[in-house]
Amino acid sequence: MQGARAAGERVFDILDAEPEPTDRKLSFTAPIRGDVVYEQVVFDYGEGRPVLHDINLHAKPGQMIALVGPTGAGKSSIVNLLPGFYQHTGGSITVDGLDSKLVELESLRRQISVVSQEAFLFNGSVRENILYGNLSATDDALVNAAIAANCHDFIRRLPEGFDSHVGERGVKLSVGEKQRISIARALLKDAPILILDEATASVDTATERLIQEALERLMKGRTSFVIAHRLSTIRNADQILVMRDGRIVEQGNHPQLMSLNGTYARLTRIQNTSSIEDGFAQMPG
Ligand SMILES: Nc1ncnc2c1ncn2[C@@H]1O[C@H](COP(=O)(O)OP(=O)(O)OP(=O)(O)O)[C@@H](O)[C@H]1O
Ligand SMILES: [Mg+2]
Repeated sequence: MQGARAAGERVFDILDAEPEPTDRKLSFTAPIRGDVVYEQVVFDYGEGRPVLHDINLHAKPGQMIALVGPTGAGKSSIVNLLPGFYQHTGGSITVDGLDSKLVELESLRRQISVVSQEAFLFNGSVRENILYGNLSATDDALVNAAIAANCHDFIRRLPEGFDSHVGERGVKLSVGEKQRISIARALLKDAPILILDEATASVDTATERLIQEALERLMKGRTSFVIAHRLSTIRNADQILVMRDGRIVEQGNHPQLMSLNGTYARLTRIQNTSSIEDGFAQMPG
């Protein structure tokens, strides 16, 4: 009874939720190029404490934008504004020139794939979990996405292959396996913009290589926002944004930031095998 009561309360919270605001009249008609501009974006979570201040960035079509910074710096907050998960309180975000606040959420979100910190799988088969990226995909497309995401091999070895059930009563998948399934889903969705909030969970080096390869295939030709935890992942980024306390404090590619000789350069010197987080933790102020 207690359990049902708690669950019931959560259901009513959802039923009572206010619909998201609907001054969203625009939608994308043609395939978009993936040009994203943030101008003086300000944001708070409604607690009166600004979490992002004066964020300016321009991601050109196909570019890889990497975000680094200590925990709580605002990396996830920046990228979560793009699909409209939250509304910025000031400034503007445009996607291919359209104000993101005026675009219907469905149309906006169709342009963006999110591979998040906790790979999100729901109760259902492996097949359904991948097809969620594109419900009308053919079987061939499904298998190709699984191959490109480096998950086809382990899926084939599951008791019922693609029809194996995952989730509470299903097969138990490792963090690395779940992540590759969500990469396959994103490949199938084939959106021009990609948000990758990389998992911090440590995986062994062989798995890391499989994930890295899959991600490189996924990022190819897309505008990608990558929150990475290893400097090796972001070395080739077109732009690296170094964040601190809700601000972008350094912006440029690897050679530019190295010659700037600031936070990023210090970070690369501290880091040998450790993660970016460890690097920031070891840095004074
Ligand atoms: N849902 C939320 N409600 C209120 N405050 C939040 C919420 N999510 C994040 N914050 C706050 O906003 C700030 C920025 O958080 P954010 O999650 O963007 O940081 P991050 O750089 O992604 O950190 P991490 O590396 O730990 O993922 C933090 O101070 C955090 O406490
Ligand atoms: Mg985060």
